[in-house]
Amino acid sequence: MKNIFITGCCGYIGSHTSVELLNEGYEVIGLDNFSNSKPRVLDAIYEITGKKIKFYEGDMLDKNLLKKIFTENKIDAVIDFAAFKSVGDSVNMPIEYYINNVSSVLTLLNVMKEQDVKKIIFSSSATVYGESKIIPITEKCSIGGTTNPYGTSKLFVEKILQDLYKADNTWGICIFRYFNPVGAHQSGLIGEEPNGVPANLMPFISKVATKELKELKVFGNDYNTKDGTGVRDYIHIVDLAKAHVKGIEKLKKDSSGMFIYNLGTGKGYSVLEMINAFEKVNNVKINYKIVERRPGDVAICYADASLAKKELGWSALLGLENMCKDAYNFTQKNINN
Ligand code: NAD
Ligand code: UD1
Repeated sequence: MKNIFITGCCGYIGSHTSVELLNEGYEVIGLDNFSNSKPRVLDAIYEITGKKIKFYEGDMLDKNLLKKIFTENKIDAVIDFAAFKSVGDSVNMPIEYYINNVSSVLTLLNVMKEQDVKKIIFSSSATVYGESKIIPITEKCSIGGTTNPYGTSKLFVEKILQDLYKADNTWGICIFRYFNPVGAHQSGLIGEEPNGVPANLMPFISKVATKELKELKVFGNDYNTKDGTGVRDYIHIVDLAKAHVKGIEKLKKDSSGMFIYNLGTGKGYSVLEMINAFEKVNNVKINYKIVERRPGDVAICYADASLAKKELGWSALLGLENMCKDAYNFTQKNINN
């Protein structure tokens, strides 16, 4: 199993995963329509690894293009990252979100079935757990109760994959539920580049540090948590990317099966702890003010990540210090890009 097809290969997680796979000797065939990334990411991946992705520009909804890719390449497994990911936009544009995040996966699975390629890793999210009553969250916790079309699109695809496996258990399907990926590659050449003002905490803090943004709004300090602010499981993007290499190894070893793993560190940090860590590690001041809670936010969300450790032999190695350092390094290097 050598040739891996990555959809959304130029995005935040796709680019870091491409780097890890190339470094491990895999061939990467990539697809992206640049709806949320830039072509220069391909040069950055080459600069980091000295290896090139066989790249196709286009849309995952384009069945003919997918057929062409599968015909021109002997693909062994697929990692599907191509999707829209803004929670706020999804509330205003549900049709666009369901088409891009659900219909596109159906198109992909259909072509995979036709071409008899039956191994896939799918990018899901901790958001499928909704407001879990059990913390830390294990894979056995119930899913559902999503509060926006983005989260629901992930839930739908998980259900589709379950049904597919029920119908044909020769598939090898691995669902990764990511907690909060942050940071960037140590080189500062690839990282998270959200369009416009970031909605997520870490890129927002980084831009306050570089003075591109004036002040962070901390959404609520009246949660039932250690200091009243929201608690999350932040995981370094390079650790997250490495888990995908382990996922591919698992699909190679077990050949078929339905596997679901939380990808987190198992540690929860509050918003104020993140601000403090960022200030200390990078020797900067983060201006912030406490404002109202953000609708849809949960108080506490962190993973029990022991199943991935047990079955994949993977666990996160990089701590808060690296997350803060690498996020800031990337933001500093990419001001005005
Ligand atoms: P991203 O937006 O940085 O990357 C997605 C990439 O897919 C982009 O390069 C975009 O141009 C491309 N793309 C989108 N729709 C496409 C289409 N129809 N055809 C071809 N290319 C398309 O997002 P990311 O952070 O790298 O996330 C990757 C996956 O992980 C997504 O499915 C996302 O929902 C999921 N996820 C992300 C997070 C997170 O915090 N980043 C958390 C949980 C789950
Ligand atoms: C959010 C999404 C989730 C998605 C994930 C992707 C919501 C409700 N959830 O998760 O579906 O999978 O991003 O990365 O949008 N915070 C502030 N000020 C800010 C930004 C965030 O105080 O400007 C706080 C939030 O209230 C939260 C924590 O920081 O307590 C983390 O927020 P964020 O980075 O947006 O991630 P999630 O909300 O966990």
